Amino acid sequence: MSLVDEILKRRTFAIISHPDAGKTTLTEKLLLYGGAIHLAGSIKSRKAQRHAVSDWMEIEKQRGISVTSSVLQFDYKNFRINILDTPGHQDFSEDTYRTLMAVDSAVMVLDAAKGVEAQTKKLFKVCRERRIPIFTFINKLDRYGKIPLDLLDEVEKVLGIRAYPMNFPIGTDGKYLGVYDRQKNLIELFAEDTSHGQTERISEIFAPDDEKVIARIGQANFDALQDDLMLLDEAGEKFDVDKINAGDLTPTFFGSAMTNFGVKNFLEEYLRLAPPPAPRLSDDGIIEPNDEKFSAFVFKIQANMNPAHRDRLAFIRICSGEFKRNMEVWHAATNKIVKLAQPQQFLAQERQIIEEAFPGDIVGLFDTGIFGIGDTLTDAAHKFKFEDFPIFPPEKFARIQAKDTMKRKQFSKGIEQLTQEGAIQLFYPVGAGTDSYIVGTVGTLQFEVLQYRLKSEYKVDVLLTMLPFEVARWLKYDDDSKVTPATLRGADRGMFVLDRKENPVLILENEWSLGWISENNPKLIMNAVPFEV
Ligand code: G4P
Repeated sequence: MSLVDEILKRRTFAIISHPDAGKTTLTEKLLLYGGAIHLAGSIKSRKAQRHAVSDWMEIEKQRGISVTSSVLQFDYKNFRINILDTPGHQDFSEDTYRTLMAVDSAVMVLDAAKGVEAQTKKLFKVCRERRIPIFTFINKLDRYGKIPLDLLDEVEKVLGIRAYPMNFPIGTDGKYLGVYDRQKNLIELFAEDTSHGQTERISEIFAPDDEKVIARIGQANFDALQDDLMLLDEAGEKFDVDKINAGDLTPTFFGSAMTNFGVKNFLEEYLRLAPPPAPRLSDDGIIEPNDEKFSAFVFKIQANMNPAHRDRLAFIRICSGEFKRNMEVWHAATNKIVKLAQPQQFLAQERQIIEEAFPGDIVGLFDTGIFGIGDTLTDAAHKFKFEDFPIFPPEKFARIQAKDTMKRKQFSKGIEQLTQEGAIQLFYPVGAGTDSYIVGTVGTLQFEVLQYRLKSEYKVDVLLTMLPFEVARWLKYDDDSKVTPATLRGADRGMFVLDRKENPVLILENEWSLGWISENNPKLIMNAVPFEV
């Protein structure tokens, strides 16, 4: 198969949703239809096992939330599908943002009873900023929810994107019998779900004027459908592929992941309409996926994914050319040639070594510590860098030290590794001994994860003291002279620390303190993220 054919068959996307809307269930059903699992519910059958295939870490099982982004690959008909899992919890925004850098489209799952929820809004915003196509799946149609037309209206009003219903439910709230497919002009009626969603839902397809339809759904439901469809045709948005590709129109599907209602139709229509791997911006212009020369970037790093292996993986998204096991590539961050050994892909809880991969694919590389988030890898014959990843200013701070000082070495190693993964930002107190660090994060849950992982992976119990600060500013003077606690007026109003590259940073309580520092240090330049070098 040619490189172009490989690219055209790939769809790489993330499912975004508010916790509990049904992301895990939908993922599971897509795997079921793809034949990657045989009986739905093997991922997530009981409440006690409320973790998806892609949840690796112990803490995720314990808390029932998805902490890390993960990747699943499977085939459906002629498509090769890569789903990137995004954590639904609001505290994990950084990891999620990075994951969304690696996808070509997104599927937004809404709970029909709840509509657009807080976390959906945040995730949606990131997708919108990247202008990636967004497909909407309105879930849980098997039980009472908001009225379909109201839900479409809510998507448009709350998120500011036009919605085009690809299908429309037939029946009454809580008792939908099927859907009308607006693109194909066909009616699909579902048989009762007799397997609790464990197998594909049986359905029958009819022409809209087939008499059997009225016999099956009743005159009242038939009339109501005609009214709704007329309203949509007259007042609704027109189907427009360009608008979908620009992220201005979201094709919207109604269904129920749990009972397999509308799931297959969603999958097929999504695959048909979603874009294959897109070109990417670099400092050497646009890189097309069908450029023969290999390129990729690192979007995630994770240590100790498998306790039995004690390893560290860097996840790369392939952007152009062909990936081959053991190939040698140029690593932009170190300006060195590196060999990509032991590339891995993921399905369920199994990993497998792969020989080749193509644009759109995600590959986990065994990492000895050289890779960083956002790093570019290219063919040595065409060196360039992809655009930088956004950096998020830390907003929560804590002092952290090992309870047992004998464990200092393990402690430092663990902290350094978790910093490299990008989950936390590390700062060094000025003048203090080396037994404590200052850690900055975007959310408080990350501290819990940090504590937990230091204990389970590095066997270190830590003492964590939250600090009353909310803003960090990187500092420099306009004449480039060095900022030190002695030269800075009011340094004692906050905490003066150094980042990992020994750049001075001041951590402060609030915006008001920031104003004071700014007024009293006229030569000072402050930045919410590190200055560019
Ligand atoms: P998430 O990953 O977005 O957090 O959601 P998840 O799939 O875990 O689903 C959250 C809850 O909603 C689960 O119920 C799940 O079974 C249920 N659910 C998902 N899709 C549908 C649907 O189409 N219809 C209905 N009625 N429910 C749905 P739970 O009771 O919390 O867990 P469980 O006991 O089912 O595992």
